[in-house]
Amino acid sequence: MERSSCPDPSDKRVAVVTGGNKGIGREVCRQLASSGVTVILTARDEKRGSEAVETLHGLGLPDVQFYRLDVSDPAGAAHLAEFVKEKFGRLDILINNAGVIGATAEIDTTTPIQEALEGKSAMERLQWLLQHSTESYEEAEECLKINYFGTKYVTQALLPLLLSSNGRLINVSSNYGLLRYFSGEDLKRELNDIDNLTVERLDEMSELFLKDYKNDQLKPHGWPAESEYLAYKANTPRRRVPAASLPWRCCRKEAQLVCSSSAEKKHPSCNT
Ligand SMILES: NC(=O)c1ccc[n+]([C@@H]2O[C@H](COP(=O)([O-])OP(=O)(O)OC[C@H]3O[C@@H](n4cnc5c(N)ncnc54)[C@H](OP(=O)(O)O)[C@@H]3O)[C@@H](O)[C@H]2O)c1
Repeated sequence: MERSSCPDPSDKRVAVVTGGNKGIGREVCRQLASSGVTVILTARDEKRGSEAVETLHGLGLPDVQFYRLDVSDPAGAAHLAEFVKEKFGRLDILINNAGVIGATAEIDTTTPIQEALEGKSAMERLQWLLQHSTESYEEAEECLKINYFGTKYVTQALLPLLLSSNGRLINVSSNYGLLRYFSGEDLKRELNDIDNLTVERLDEMSELFLKDYKNDQLKPHGWPAESEYLAYKANTPRRRVPAASLPWRCCRKEAQLVCSSSAEKKHPSCNT
């Protein structure tokens, strides 16, 4: 009997993308689906998520489906893991993209933002944005809840399936989460000690950060205390979730590199 030339559907790779309804997340979904990957586009809002899926279907990408997930809800992450396991039995790619900036922009609407940022370096752009925004304690708390704890919940729930599928984990982050912005050597050393870092310690550090933020003690205690402190809550701990979550120490350095940005890949030592 002649063998069918159709690919076995079970060979199709499966990806989960968090915060897939807009921005970078939606574009990642589009590109993955265009490359023949089955995409589970997750979003916290049913309407926004379903609309994004419809838009991608309209682009001729039918293999994208919606799953509602607020990453800050650990039970939701566990349900997603059950769903993916039951329906596909595999997970090849997890993209932790959902995140918030944790600040409120107070942009002068008479000057278009693109115009104001034109010609500025990445650091100058961040400085400008910070000068034109405010941050409250509540926003810092919310930001950690989503960017760090949310990333942790989703990673921990899906990691067993991802590992059993020999899959890839990608955390979307920013160079502003680099340890070079810390003034405290002890904090920097601890966060850079990938072999011994645990998620429990990352949890504690997030509590300490918030306490110092509330008591105006960021600088004396060695946190990034100038404009970059915004970046700690948005980026630093979540960059370390993959390495800290892995059960095998030997894989941690690799995880750390994989979750690094392309700039760091060019300069591997700049993770600090
Ligand atoms: N754009 C940049 O220049 C830049 C630079 C560095 C890092 N990043 C990081 O890249 C990621 C994507 O950025 P972006 O510019 O595409 O941002 P964006 O357009 O604001 O998209 C963020 C996405 O995250 C979702 N989200 C927020 N909180 C969530 C929660 N609790 N549960 C599930 N989804 C949630 C948002 O959903 P809603 O629509 O419901 O709010 C949205 O889909 C973020 O993690 C960001 O920190 C971006």
